[in-house]
Amino acid sequence: MKKIIAITRGDGCGPEVVNEGIKILKIVSELTDYDFEFRDAPAGGEVWKKYGTNLPEKSFDIIKKSDVLLFGALGLPNLPPGVAESAILKIRQDLDLYINLRPVKLYNVLREICPLKDEFIGDGIDITFVRENTEGLYKNIGKLEKDSAENLMLYTRKGCERIIKFAFEFAKRKGHNKVTSVDKANILKPSQLWRQIFHEISENYANIETEDIYIDSFCQWLIRAPYKFQTVATGNMFGDIISDEGAFLIGSLGMGSSGNIHPGKVSMYEPIHGSAPDIAGKGIANPIGTILSVKLMFEESFNSSEIGNEIDNAVEAALQEGRTVDIESKSLKTLSTVKMGDLIANKLKSRLKA
Ligand code: NAD
Ligand code: IPM
Ligand code: MN
Repeated sequence: MKKIIAITRGDGCGPEVVNEGIKILKIVSELTDYDFEFRDAPAGGEVWKKYGTNLPEKSFDIIKKSDVLLFGALGLPNLPPGVAESAILKIRQDLDLYINLRPVKLYNVLREICPLKDEFIGDGIDITFVRENTEGLYKNIGKLEKDSAENLMLYTRKGCERIIKFAFEFAKRKGHNKVTSVDKANILKPSQLWRQIFHEISENYANIETEDIYIDSFCQWLIRAPYKFQTVATGNMFGDIISDEGAFLIGSLGMGSSGNIHPGKVSMYEPIHGSAPDIAGKGIANPIGTILSVKLMFEESFNSSEIGNEIDNAVEAALQEGRTVDIESKSLKTLSTVKMGDLIANKLKSRLKA
């Protein structure tokens, strides 16, 4: 099975973690029927400095002609906010990647790293955030003037329906018995529309329980009783925020993975973290968020939950032997980005050979 994979390494720690994602893809192509062609599609702050654009047309063309995009992170501390990052929004908007899937699962071996006391972890954390990815404040309708600034939080019926429907279908596929909707319907009109549509669509899923929680309260519930949640559907801005909170619950922001998806079309897989300027270039970034994004790529774009599972198991096995510094354990080796990637790749190799 031939697949073309566009590669955007990006800025800061982006190239460091993406190289480990590619390492995993190469193991899969070595040991299975998959055959991957990698095509570089540079974008971001460094590219902007060189060419005056954060997403050269040539790069975007390569992305559009690929099956999927593996993406690092964009952003440089010495550039004004948004100069590099707006390329991400352009890709999400122009490719209509309306689903942002962000799972957070606490591996048993990382229970000791979770910042919560055992009683709050309960029987574990395994949540998937389904974040709307093209509407709301991220439509980028607004203006910045000297004495005022505005953004329009615009949601459409079509936009809400398709993401909420996906959330229910996802829950059904995963055997979840509840979908939680997170909004701010007590104050925001777009949330009122969202909530109405959430309940309309839920009518078609008699076996799935529903619940509505306001975003402020949800942030509290997420650390008070994370074991209560399975599929969580929410809007663009809220999804951005709660997914960082969720990622830290499973050990580190470096563990958070994501897929920016339009089923059947070119989709983009990336860790949820940014370019991490405070650790970039040191070779210590955690590559697991990127590697788990590759896992999502197999599950959601290549329809292969088997390989997804193998990657997941390889990560779990590796975590029992070594850790990057953000999730380090006194009793285990502390590894560089490359060594952590090697360890996971070796675990995957032996699993795929077996
Ligand atoms: P960040 O996610 O880059 O970093 C926040 C904290 O998490 C830092 O302490 C960092 O060291 C740590 N961290 C992040 N990734 C890690 C990893 N893989 N391993 C270990 N620790 C990790 O967020 P920030 O500092 O707010 O943003 C830095 C830049 O990245 C900004 O320009 C921002 O706009 C951009 N950004 C880009 C994306 C993206 O490209 N998708 C996402 C978020 C932020
Ligand atoms: C993310 C990032 C992006 C977002 C930014 C960098 C545009 O924070 O992917 O979580 O807000 O969606
Ligand atoms: Mn974010």
